[in-house]
Amino acid sequence: RSNGEERIDYVYKVVVIGDSAVGKTQVLSRFTRNEFCFDSKSTIGVEFQTRTLTIKSKVVKAQIWDTAGQERYRAVTSAYYRGALGAMLVYDITKRESFDHVARWVEELRAHADNSIVIALIGNKVDLEDKRAVPSEDAVEFAENQGLYFFETSALTGDNVEAAFFKLLEEIY
Ligand code: GTP
Repeated sequence: RSNGEERIDYVYKVVVIGDSAVGKTQVLSRFTRNEFCFDSKSTIGVEFQTRTLTIKSKVVKAQIWDTAGQERYRAVTSAYYRGALGAMLVYDITKRESFDHVARWVEELRAHADNSIVIALIGNKVDLEDKRAVPSEDAVEFAENQGLYFFETSALTGDNVEAAFFKLLEEIY
């Protein structure tokens, strides 16, 4: 739009959570900037990125918060989740442990986020299919039991990243 004027109908806060090194920051930069970085540094504290998009003819500004998966860098939990309408819960399909911890992340969401928060479970790094340690069926079953949307993505190739965010934002709408 011209001279920076932008009609924004809604601002949606979305949080990205999951273990360290699963690719949270890279999934986010693929979505907001269409970029990927191989030597991504661990996030310290909290950062956020935005992308404005049109959903069902409304202009939605997605304000997506990214924090460290590592316990020692974790930001104050309640402030991080406050006002969040959506959550991307990311694990790494090549790291079984990161999937085993997903239940704990769901608990944290249920404890600190709004009850109506929309959650997408994201199995990232599908480009590393030969190193897969988490069968899709395990995640499908977990997602169904917990009422989460489920996507397998690759921040590297961009596979399914848009689809996952669009689904989440549409469901928030
Ligand atoms: P913390 O900030 O420590 O919580 O980590 P994070 O979850 O934000 O992970 P980050 O995005 O920094 O990515 C960790 C590493 O995985 C980096 O070396 C990335 O380049 C790599 N990575 C992220 N996404 C993908 C992907 O889809 N495929 C592959 N092959 N590597 C990826």
